[in-house]
Amino acid sequence: MTERRPKYLATPRYTACPYAVFEELRDEAPAVPVQVNGFRMWAVTQYSDTLEILADQDACKDIVQHRKRVVPQSMLRPDHSAKLAHKSRRSLLDRDGPDHRRLRAHLSGEFRPTRVALLTPAIERAATSLLDRLPIGEPVDLVEAYARPLVTTVLSDLLGLPEGDREDFPGWQMSMLTGSSVAEAEDGARRLHELALRMIEVKKREPGDDLFTRLLRIHESGGDIDVDELASTYVVLLIGGSEPTTAIGTGLALLLDRPDAIEKLIARPELFDRAVEEIVRYESPFKLLPPRFYEKPVEVDGVTIPAGEMIAVSPGAANRDPARFPDPDVFDLERDTRGHLGFGHGAHRCLGAPLGRLETKIALRTLITRFPRTRLATPPEDLAWRPGSFMRRLDGLPAILG
Ligand code: HEM
Repeated sequence: MTERRPKYLATPRYTACPYAVFEELRDEAPAVPVQVNGFRMWAVTQYSDTLEILADQDACKDIVQHRKRVVPQSMLRPDHSAKLAHKSRRSLLDRDGPDHRRLRAHLSGEFRPTRVALLTPAIERAATSLLDRLPIGEPVDLVEAYARPLVTTVLSDLLGLPEGDREDFPGWQMSMLTGSSVAEAEDGARRLHELALRMIEVKKREPGDDLFTRLLRIHESGGDIDVDELASTYVVLLIGGSEPTTAIGTGLALLLDRPDAIEKLIARPELFDRAVEEIVRYESPFKLLPPRFYEKPVEVDGVTIPAGEMIAVSPGAANRDPARFPDPDVFDLERDTRGHLGFGHGAHRCLGAPLGRLETKIALRTLITRFPRTRLATPPEDLAWRPGSFMRRLDGLPAILG
């Protein structure tokens, strides 16, 4: 008997609103096989199971190391599957155990909240100067003209990216994560990796007071990070560091559609911190996380997943699980969002979360306090979302500043 082909996930319906699909999957079983980028993955949609897997030290991510087992076992359509670019998947994001801890330790000091807080004046200046240049009273795309350039500037300054190299990488990471074909995604990944290799050479010649230079010094002084790990880490920082663009764009879309929320924020600016958490809960930028797998069979709430099978947990689904968040489909600035999984959880929880939170808060606060009558230039249901299984990102945000 041939096995039934798992459900294809990234349909237009899923792109427009993944939550109805997550609800169906949650009703079907705690773990359901789905097709993602030519692979079979087990989609896990309940909050409690997601938390457990993310906290589990036996859950692995290093698919390159275990590829001989994991890849053939899960590949459904070789013609539709992205090739594993081994050398560019050696960062902390794709590693387990001691290797993961070693690589994460090289970065953790860079993202300590007290250190990140020092960036506040520079982020505020960048937001204000972008707003100074935007037209008032006519449609403008706030993702393209505000969120993206703000986040790109903050990230490029932090990493030490030279002026001439700031233009293209946001488009490449967009292609890699939300491209409409495997070829587009692979092209984006290849270009980012080439940029990372070039940056290693640039920083050797022209070191600066920046994160890329500090990581390179660890490598050059015989420290425990090899060249593939260095380049892969540069790529992960370029990708992860761009993520606040998503939270700012989605956050503005949610708020501009809710005048009462804007009024509340203006009256009680201390709510901006909570707004960021509710945005990342309600529209989690990750619909699915990069897959995990186990070396032994694992049971997820009564469903046995064989060893080496890819498991895709979903912050987007977990954060809308009614068993964890009452009325999860209601956007509520004052809700208790503690425990949301928008920044992940466990060993791989987002390292840049303090920076992501700060950038998102400043971007929202600067725009809303200066232009409180800003409105969407299109009905919210017409806003377009980027394709793909993993990320929840707006394609653009037409709005009118006022
Ligand atoms: C609102 C903004 C952001 C969101 C929603 C977000 C979300 C996430 C999530 C869900 C993970 C976990 C991935 C997994 O478990 O497989 C993660 C990991 C990571 N993020 Fe973020 N992120 C954001 C901003 C940032 C920023 C600004 C940076 C750095 C400049 C960053 C760097 C990283 C890194 C390096 C990891 C890998 C951590 C590890 O594997 O140990 N992120 N992020």
